[in-house]
Amino acid sequence: MPGIRGPSDYSQEPPRHPCLAINSKEPFNAEPPRQVLVSSYVTPVEFFYKRNHGPIPVVDDVERYSISVTGLIDNPKQLFMKDIRNLPKYNVTATLQCAGNRRTAMSKTKTVKGVGWDVCALGNAVWGGAKLVDVLELVGIPKLTSATWSGGKHVEFISIDKCKEENGGPYKASIALSQATNPAADVLLAYEMNGEPLNRDHGYPLRVVVPGVIGARSVKWLDSINIIAEECQGFFMQKDYKMFPPSVNWDNIKWSTRRPLMDFPVQSAICSLEDVTIVKHGKITVKGYAVSGGGRGIERVDVSIDGGKTWVEASRYQKTGTPYNPDDESSDRWAWVIFEATADIPTSTEIVAKAVDTAANVQPENVESIWNLRGVLNTSWHRVQFRIGKSNM
Ligand code: MTE
Repeated sequence: MPGIRGPSDYSQEPPRHPCLAINSKEPFNAEPPRQVLVSSYVTPVEFFYKRNHGPIPVVDDVERYSISVTGLIDNPKQLFMKDIRNLPKYNVTATLQCAGNRRTAMSKTKTVKGVGWDVCALGNAVWGGAKLVDVLELVGIPKLTSATWSGGKHVEFISIDKCKEENGGPYKASIALSQATNPAADVLLAYEMNGEPLNRDHGYPLRVVVPGVIGARSVKWLDSINIIAEECQGFFMQKDYKMFPPSVNWDNIKWSTRRPLMDFPVQSAICSLEDVTIVKHGKITVKGYAVSGGGRGIERVDVSIDGGKTWVEASRYQKTGTPYNPDDESSDRWAWVIFEATADIPTSTEIVAKAVDTAANVQPENVESIWNLRGVLNTSWHRVQFRIGKSNM
């Protein structure tokens, strides 16, 4: 593809912030420290988690860079950056979360396969770009296509990177055409992150952002868009990022029995405390994030300072200083909320948070009930242990 290439080794990786905790070096997978993550509502690019499956592509010439839109359509098109930029530009504040967020805690129950992540494999950014619905209209696919549309049913995004899971081929994923052509779904072909051109780690020059859906469907370094009849048959759709019941193991797994993960469930985590924090007597501030997928807002965040026996409701905000109200038109429907509660240091040793979304979905109490061999979607109550001692907290 002109203007961009996917190298087959790691000799041309971009610079990264030294505070990131590296969970795997090649491919580069890293997350920020907990306290850094919740120090701002919009996550600075340098502190945004990075989730890769191969070496980072190199853009030689952004003017020559183009994507093709092809498949079950009458008039395939090649689109250059100027064509994408000529479409109306939207800024969508959306939280991107990896399905493997909090995998490390799930693996404590029983081993799981996958890169280990603490609670920071997510971030909240202002994504700027064209709506996919407008791009699809250029090739003759109308807005709001439904199951009765005679053409394809899925939109596949194919990248340029080289992944070993795809036997050296590119990363790819798909979403339903009905979602892709729904203007309210806010699916973007993004060229900006927080008002700056995307950086290399996050998909420069162009990536997909599918708000409310696990990060795996937001394909970076976009090469082509393919309109297809069945969902994408790639590894990351069919042999990964699926959630199996606790009874399924590597000997009896049948991948085709489960659907690829899409919307993520309600999630929250405490970020003001590490797993074991030493605190002094007095007050403690419990601060973290809560988010749900599918455009559902956060109805409530409950915090317990006695291991889940009693609860208080945390305050929630998006923009600092304004209490969050999911019904408010000005709230960011695809974005997390930051929550905060202050309490007296208790005599017990476990602090817990759980969130409830606007569809009344609640995080499950225990990780055991949702354990799965790939360690995805650990949304169990987030618990941190602490000890009382000499500290500045
Ligand atoms: N796109 C490509 N081309 N290659 C990838 O490895 N990783 C996916 C998704 N898009 C990936 C990709 C996964 S699993 C996640 S969680 C998000 O990108 C991470 O996006 P980020 O690195 O910008 O945070």
